[in-house]
Amino acid sequence: AGSGKFFVGGNWKCNGTKDSIAKLISDLNSATLEADVDVVVAPPFVYIDQVKSSLTDRIEISGQNSWVGKGGAFTGEISVEQLKDLGCKWVILGHSERRHVIGEKDEFIGKKAAYALSEGLGVIACIGEKLEEREAGKTFDVCYEQLKAFADAVPSWDNIVVAYEPVWAIGTGKVASPQQAQEVHVAVRGWLKKNVSEEVASKTRIIYGGSVNGGNSAELAKEEDIDGFLVGGASLKGPEFATIVNSVT
Ligand code: G3P
Repeated sequence: AGSGKFFVGGNWKCNGTKDSIAKLISDLNSATLEADVDVVVAPPFVYIDQVKSSLTDRIEISGQNSWVGKGGAFTGEISVEQLKDLGCKWVILGHSERRHVIGEKDEFIGKKAAYALSEGLGVIACIGEKLEEREAGKTFDVCYEQLKAFADAVPSWDNIVVAYEPVWAIGTGKVASPQQAQEVHVAVRGWLKKNVSEEVASKTRIIYGGSVNGGNSAELAKEEDIDGFLVGGASLKGPEFATIVNSVT
């Protein structure tokens, strides 16, 4: 860990019921969390209100996606205004499941980020290569292209956290090694330095996601350019998520 305050997000994805989420909230409320860490959870939209009303204010809330502009006649979408109304401070954009399962494209994701930022939400901007792209030696190119789409669209990086999530590591139990993650984080920082500014490069937190758990987070957190985590499966277990938060070094 190096740049700024350590940041740990729990992406609950499309999981949970009122009962399982009540239990998770109660576990999170009773967990001891290191003070010097930003902690955020992203529940499914339909449970955000439940989470907001019972989760400790120590933990901030994020949407898992948001509409590209002001709300209105967009069936099935959730607007930035609505996320703010429910108390969200963040939104995850460009997650690989939205890119590769739902089919969202770079430019659309960039526009979403710009709109969310303009309305005052922080953006967890996800990037990452697929296995075949890694095997073809295209990891950096893919990450740079996805970063560029964000950079072309946003006026400022003040409220952005970059999440590097190699697609082959998501939900597979195949975590990137600390060296593999560090190598890409350094490249991302280098790209920001060259294409945005030295200040943005040194201040922007770059977090890692992909099969992070209570057993591997401490090793990853030792790397200089890993400034936190975006956690999927292991964030559904309160005590394990707390262990990951507390792996800050
Ligand atoms: O956004 C978090 C993520 O995609 C990683 O998921 O289950 O591999 O921790 P998981």
